[in-house]
Amino acid sequence: MDPASTLAPNLTPLAALLGTWKGDGAGTYPTIDDFSYTEELTFTDVGKPFLHYIQRTWAPNGSPMHTETGYLRAPRDGVAEFVLAQPTGQTELGEGTVVAEADTVVLEFDSRVVGSATAKEVVTTRRRYEIAGDRLVTTFAMAAVGVPLTHHLRAELRRL
Ligand code: HEM
Repeated sequence: MDPASTLAPNLTPLAALLGTWKGDGAGTYPTIDDFSYTEELTFTDVGKPFLHYIQRTWAPNGSPMHTETGYLRAPRDGVAEFVLAQPTGQTELGEGTVVAEADTVVLEFDSRVVGSATAKEVVTTRRRYEIAGDRLVTTFAMAAVGVPLTHHLRAELRRL
């Protein structure tokens, strides 16, 4: 879909995200071994006042790692909401801000998480997406499995 012709007016602050991004990341957490991964994110205009989002990641040997999907909303000026489903049994409702300045757009979310009966315990998450031209840096922290809010992921992506 041609974003210029269909993008709902409320999504203008998110326009810099549209498309597919790919790059490498590193993960850590006090309870696990450090790891690295390749990540691909796609934000798609579906002709509605929200963007569809899908993320996929791979281990250095090419085998699939985490994936997630959801919707990115911009209901009011400066406000962003990220509604996410995790295959690991959690749902994340991220609420936060979108700030566009000069050539940089920053989105930040704190989330409430609801997990299924068998999911690992995740209490809250914090996400940040910084877009500067064709570069996107993502960071992710979580309070989970008895650990307070602690860094888990950072990746640097380029627009494909
Ligand atoms: C780029 C995306 C992600 C990658 C590549 C990734 C990778 C990993 C890896 C390799 C582990 C250790 C092995 C394992 O338990 O499977 C792990 C653990 C974990 N991750 Fe992530 N993860 C990602 C995103 C997330 C997200 C979005 C959440 C929460 C919503 C999350 C929550 C957890 C939890 C709860 C653990 C278990 C920690 C433990 O049991 O000690 N991860 N992750």
